[in-house]
Amino acid sequence: MFEIVGKRELAPNIKWIKVKAPLVARNAKPGQFVVIRLHEKGERIPLTLFRWDKDEGTIELVFQEVGKTTYELGTYEVGDAIADVVGPLGRPTHIENFGTAVVVSGGVGAPIGYSVTKALKEAGNYVISIIGFRNKQLVILEDEFREVSDELLVTTDDGSYVRKGFTTDVLSELLESGRNVDYVFTVGPVIMMKKVADITRKYGIKTYASLNPIMVDGTGMCGACRVTVGGQVVFACVAGPDFDAHQVDFDELLKRLAMYREEERLAMERFLQMRQVSVVGR
Ligand SMILES: Cc1cc2nc3c(=O)[nH]c(=O)nc-3n(C[C@H](O)[C@H](O)[C@H](O)COP(=O)(O)OP(=O)(O)OC[C@H]3O[C@@H](n4cnc5c(N)ncnc54)[C@H](O)[C@@H]3O)c2cc1C
Ligand code: FES
Repeated sequence: MFEIVGKRELAPNIKWIKVKAPLVARNAKPGQFVVIRLHEKGERIPLTLFRWDKDEGTIELVFQEVGKTTYELGTYEVGDAIADVVGPLGRPTHIENFGTAVVVSGGVGAPIGYSVTKALKEAGNYVISIIGFRNKQLVILEDEFREVSDELLVTTDDGSYVRKGFTTDVLSELLESGRNVDYVFTVGPVIMMKKVADITRKYGIKTYASLNPIMVDGTGMCGACRVTVGGQVVFACVAGPDFDAHQVDFDELLKRLAMYREEERLAMERFLQMRQVSVVGR
């Protein structure tokens, strides 16, 4: 059992938790994730390592309540325990001194973007972070990004905070203005990552995306997480989750993510009936 030792709500339906998991903390690297199972009847879901502390033996996760398991995790409090935490999983993000690096993170991709930004900065890169959210209420980790970025650009889709528009608008402007960029990393909604890849392809800038397909075991045993990259089928949990964004079939990834929509809706309905709570907006 893995005890929750800290919990905070960062934004509506977005929660941060700190979990005691010494072995994971000891081996964690930026870009890696864990697969968790809340209890013996629970499903396994992947969540990315936001931060970790080897000495304290803790890991930090940030998750958005989007369905049954993440809503249920949101009801766990400090002192409660998660049955299984498996990890660290996946290949760590490749970090080197590229020169000028831009990290484009959208929504709940921000925790992953943060750990990569921090590592790129520590490797000597000049790092420009672009973080985007739907609205002001959903802005998370702004201070954390500022600490590890040379420049930070924040966008909201509706313009309720800082710059109105999408992260991709800012990226386009940056490149159109002639800024020299050597490397781009992107994580967030699939549509956003696809757009980032389309933009940087024109400039020939090396671009990596952290993919989020459905996962089950997370150790390469089943292929649920398969994605097509450069015409080859690969398992994201072991070969990724980071891939050359110019080679990824993003349309296929989108289709596969929507495969269980009806089952997910029913699971959420049953969960809410059992809890007898009502959730607006789902
Ligand atoms: C490598 C990786 C890292 C991730 N890191 C984070 C993170 O740090 N924070 C965060 O909020 N989310 C993260 N996700 C997404 C997270 O796993 C899903 O939001 C979660 O599984 C949803 O489960 P649910 O039961 O709450 O919702 P459901 O209603 O079951 O699903 C909602 C949507 O989530 C996706 N999803 C469902 N089951 C899975 C699954 N087993 N694996 C992957 N996606 C699934 C599907 O697109 C689905 O339509 C990550 C996904 C991957 C693959
Ligand atoms: S989740 Fe089963 S192989 Fe990747």
